[in-house]
Amino acid sequence: MDKKLLIKKAFEAREKAYVPYSGYHVGACVLTGRGKTYTGCNIESASYTPTICAERTAIAKAVSEGERDIKAIAITGDSEWTYPCGVCRQVIREFGKDILVIIAKSQEEYREYTLDELLPNSFGPEDLD
Ligand code: THU
Repeated sequence: MDKKLLIKKAFEAREKAYVPYSGYHVGACVLTGRGKTYTGCNIESASYTPTICAERTAIAKAVSEGERDIKAIAITGDSEWTYPCGVCRQVIREFGKDILVIIAKSQEEYREYTLDELLPNSFGPEDLD
């Protein structure tokens, strides 16, 4: 897995963030089992609540292209370290507990977690079996 490339793509996606209200830019890049990547940025709305986070934009792009086998997601935002919000953690969880979450400060400096570490004892699709 080319983590540095995923991070680079997340940084490029961050530049596309549409954030007229918060001014806070976030970019994400998903890697699938087939080796494909899908990027996303946050997109805000004048009525606020329809705002979508970068992570969910990237996941929606992957899944809507038929890619559910998500292996990793790299995230970068305007904080030194930008961690995914609770809603995004739950959405990532839908596609696996072992997904690697890369929180990137730069291509050289990043932290790695499994989704399970970021959202322990989670509720997921198996609970509805
Ligand atoms: N945001 C993300 O894109 N991802 C997160 O995980 C945290 C928050 C966005 C939503 C909103 O556009 C801005 O950051 C400020 O909350």
